[in-house]
Amino acid sequence: MFSSSRPDTGLFVSFEGPEGAGKSTQIAHLIRRLDGLNLSHTVTREPGGTPLGSRVREVLLDPELTIDPLPEFLLYSASRAQLVANVIRPALGRGEVVVCDRYADSSLAYQGFGRGLDAELLRDITAAATGGLWPHLTVLLDLDPQLGLERAARRGQPDRLERADLAFHQRLRQGFLELADADPERFLVLDATLDEAELEQRIWEAVRSRLPVPKS
Ligand SMILES: Nc1ncnc2c1ncn2[C@@H]1O[C@H](COP(=O)(O)OP(=O)(O)O)[C@@H](O)[C@H]1O
Ligand SMILES: [Mg+2]
Repeated sequence: MFSSSRPDTGLFVSFEGPEGAGKSTQIAHLIRRLDGLNLSHTVTREPGGTPLGSRVREVLLDPELTIDPLPEFLLYSASRAQLVANVIRPALGRGEVVVCDRYADSSLAYQGFGRGLDAELLRDITAAATGGLWPHLTVLLDLDPQLGLERAARRGQPDRLERADLAFHQRLRQGFLELADADPERFLVLDATLDEAELEQRIWEAVRSRLPVPKS
């Protein structure tokens, strides 16, 4: 029913992987590189990125709340729908590089592989929420869950996601890897224990090779 599409202008790059994998670190490096070339960009994150998304984010990350898997997924989808319509599509339309800290793959991994929701249901609702928009490039920072939790814990108070059990995080990792296997052209899978500078270099090569060629 829904078709998936890559936008025909701009470059849409998403970062995926567990908490503590180094997404924020590498996004900061990528932005510096883009700035160095004077390439206009929009950086955003899920859940969040719009006023609605920020409110939804507070709800999703509130350790006081118990949220069942389906409403959890629908909240992410609501945030995503608003983000795609108000931020991502307009920026791509202007020809920008859009960098998103998590996107729909996170829902497929967390709510599908992690929480056991039906994959087809997730795909249908995701297609409706995004209008079938998928990134040109998805950087998956793959990390042993134990290491990820240790890294995240060093940053301070764990949120609701970080406190979930290790088995859940193992399923999550497997889920991300299966998603990557199913779409090898879109995914760049990197070992998140590599050196920060090495990761930066590999990510930059993948982004640079996909940059829209300027018409001059
Ligand atoms: N390649 C790396 N090797 C070792 N530690 C890293 C690396 N990249 C990031 N870190 C550290 O891991 C922690 C989590 O990084 P962060 O970028 O916040 O992850 P995420 O945004 O995926 O949750 C931080 O303390 C960061 O300094
Ligand atoms: Mg982060």
